Amino acid sequence: MAIKKIITYPDPVLRKKVEPVTCFDESLKELTQDLIETMYAAPGAGLAANQIGVCLRVVVVDASKSEEEKQPLVLVNPEIIEKEGCQIDEEGCLSVIDLTAKVERFKKLLVRAQDLDGKIREFAAEDFFARVIQHELDHLNGVLFIDRLSPLKRALYKKRLKKILRAQEEGAV
Ligand code: NI
Repeated sequence: MAIKKIITYPDPVLRKKVEPVTCFDESLKELTQDLIETMYAAPGAGLAANQIGVCLRVVVVDASKSEEEKQPLVLVNPEIIEKEGCQIDEEGCLSVIDLTAKVERFKKLLVRAQDLDGKIREFAAEDFFARVIQHELDHLNGVLFIDRLSPLKRALYKKRLKKILRAQEEGAV
């Protein structure tokens, strides 16, 4: 297990096509352990494999809000098969530095995913749990939450990010 570096926007890796998992082997288990450890270290409520540079359809999620009882959930080749309702709430992303914004999401989902053995399961998700799943599945499709903001908000963020990155570069010299 290892804490991996989380890739941040505007790195083009985050926009790359992500392939389905076909091999349920030891390396998949290692990948999910790394994802879980990296998610908790960040800390975050979810992490997609392509955020650490592995282009496979794997995400980990922990929408439990208690620090005591960690409940990591591994979703392999996840898909949303039913969705309904609407919720709007503040959202952030480990790959989008220094930004939170209100994003509209479906309120309830029916999700189908495989586990580490390849077994298919379906489950319902709602509210924050459903939000995290939608956010992570977006990652697997190369979509970031900033893509769901208004063009103006997105443009302002890009401008601000440029300044932040420039300041970081200057600081590093
Ligand atoms: Ni994210």
